Amino acid sequence: MHDLLAREIERLGPGDAFRLVDLGCGVGGTVFGMAERWPRAVLHGVTISTRQVGRARALADSLGLASRCTFARADFQDDELGRDFDVGVAIESFVHSDTPERFFRAAARSLRPGGLLVVVDDFLSEPLEKLDARRRRRVRDFQDGWRVPSVCTPQASEAAAAAAGFALERAVDLSALVRLRRVRDRAIALVSPVLRAAGLVGIPLFGNMIAGDALRTGLEEGFLSYRMHVWKRSGHHG
Ligand SMILES: C[S@@+](CC[C@H](N)C(=O)[O-])C[C@H]1O[C@@H](n2cnc3c(N)ncnc32)[C@H](O)[C@@H]1O
Repeated sequence: MHDLLAREIERLGPGDAFRLVDLGCGVGGTVFGMAERWPRAVLHGVTISTRQVGRARALADSLGLASRCTFARADFQDDELGRDFDVGVAIESFVHSDTPERFFRAAARSLRPGGLLVVVDDFLSEPLEKLDARRRRRVRDFQDGWRVPSVCTPQASEAAAAAAGFALERAVDLSALVRLRRVRDRAIALVSPVLRAAGLVGIPLFGNMIAGDALRTGLEEGFLSYRMHVWKRSGHHG
């Protein structure tokens, strides 16, 4: 998946000495992958988790990348992350934003005009109200278990992105790349209904299992999809 993302950045061409911000960077996996691929790029990762920042900084030191790979604790919806980045990436973090509108408005503030925004995440295939009750429940499980309020259709994300001044360059359905039937997933599929019936979605470990199983079901049945969307920021500052 990182390779696909990198090829999109290459295709749309900010050159090789670009500045990239990773919105919701985890412990820096994407940042380090990009730093190795582009030795002249400068990369900055932000995450809401102080522990992740500490871990990412330690990894940057041990990889000898600390001069080009920096990390900060910040809320990508509210905080000033820096301006005029050439590229923004959000891998499985967009869904954590409060609303798509907030996410795209904030992303637009960080990017220069013409800058690229790449979002890789889970999307609804249809609006929630069009799904039957069982599927709606599974989407709720997914949202409650992983605390992902912004799961929406590609069309809804497109509308929010357009309102913030982004033009869609590319949309790719990556669902087929997600392996749905690992042994662990099959085991979780068996226990998940029991955990859900027992009302354990609020307990992080069980919530994770229930949400993971709901996502697997959604991808399998096609009411959820895993997609990469690439936008270009238009000329005016938002
Ligand atoms: C599912 S993880 C994905 C991490 C990483 N992008 C990856 O692909 O491994 C979601 C990330 O988004 C971060 N995150 C969620 N909400 C955030 C917010 N409002 N501001 C900054 N980071 C946030 C979490 O701390 C976490 O690092």
